[in-house]
Amino acid sequence: MTQLENTDSIQPKGDIILAIETSCDETSAAVIRGGKQILSNVVSSQIEIHERYGGVVPEIASRKHVEVITMIIEQAIKESGLTLKDMSAIAVTQGPGLVGALLVGIVAAKSLSMALDIPLIGTHHIAGHIYANELEHTIVYPCMALVVSGGHTELVLMESEGNFQVVGRTRDDAVGEAYDKVARALKLPYPGGPHIDRLAVEAEHTINLPRAWLEADSYDFSFSGLKSAVLAVINQHRMKGLDLDEGALARGFQESVTEVLVTKALRAALQYGAKQLLLCGGVAANRGLRAALTAKCESNRIPLLIPSNVLCTDNAAMIGAAAYLKLKRSQFTDLDLKGDPGFSLESWSVNHAD
Ligand code: KG4
Ligand code: ZN
Repeated sequence: MTQLENTDSIQPKGDIILAIETSCDETSAAVIRGGKQILSNVVSSQIEIHERYGGVVPEIASRKHVEVITMIIEQAIKESGLTLKDMSAIAVTQGPGLVGALLVGIVAAKSLSMALDIPLIGTHHIAGHIYANELEHTIVYPCMALVVSGGHTELVLMESEGNFQVVGRTRDDAVGEAYDKVARALKLPYPGGPHIDRLAVEAEHTINLPRAWLEADSYDFSFSGLKSAVLAVINQHRMKGLDLDEGALARGFQESVTEVLVTKALRAALQYGAKQLLLCGGVAANRGLRAALTAKCESNRIPLLIPSNVLCTDNAAMIGAAAYLKLKRSQFTDLDLKGDPGFSLESWSVNHAD
């Protein structure tokens, strides 16, 4: 349990969580019953605003969250068919994320917690991505989660509910970040992941690119070398005045990323005796990755859980699903909660002792 948590005397009434997520470029609020049932999940994306800059501009993200947060919360409550008085607790993303963006959600959550006199649950963003699976499936332990998003690439072992052990992580770029950088080099719009995915799936040829396996027993990842290899191919073509088969390059990039992710995830799942493999985060929408992981899990007889696309990208329903782990155990957060850009997933475990 972290210092900020407080289990004294507060007993929640009911199991309904109002969850808020503002860690990056989506402003979202959701109402979740029992950690599983989505009563509402309102997501307002800022993609169109950041698109013209080719990436998320933190200051603009914070300002846009401020502009819409009240309206998004009101809409989530309205769509749930309930009222603020029916809420049992307020959950909010505490980190990781952009600190100014996190703060907007945190201030709203603290105000509601105080005004309604109900507990506050500071929630880990990656725990949210993982527990998005619980909104549509039933997680069985021990399990292994492959988290692939714009900010994270991690292999997380969960031996029991709410206990997280990071067994592998990226040493440089996150996989979504690599997708977005490669897309930018090909002058594709932000966020580039879905565009590269489309080009790769439609391509008839492939350009072979290196795989970063790292040390034989390592579950860590590295994507910056691959990104440099892609940039080198683009530059060589430009310098020689040759036409570049962008589809073949996208496919080569996707094949390299996918092969490394799938191979390491399966090896980790088998080594740790996982009963399920969970795929989550924005890049879980990637068709190449889904197809390769599905095939590999089938041949190894490991059930694969993947949330629907709307629950893969940032949303507040997933934060409500993760926060329910703490509501069940009456593990609440004090009102001096601060946004934590480097928040550790392991420290958010339900059995964590400082
Ligand atoms: O989880 P997410 O919504 O935000 C973070 O927490 O980072 O993930 C966003 C990332 C972006 O990098 C985006 O390009 C990537 O997910 N993404 C994809 C696809 N759809 C979204 N990457 C590859 N293929 C896709 N189909
Ligand atoms: Zn995310």
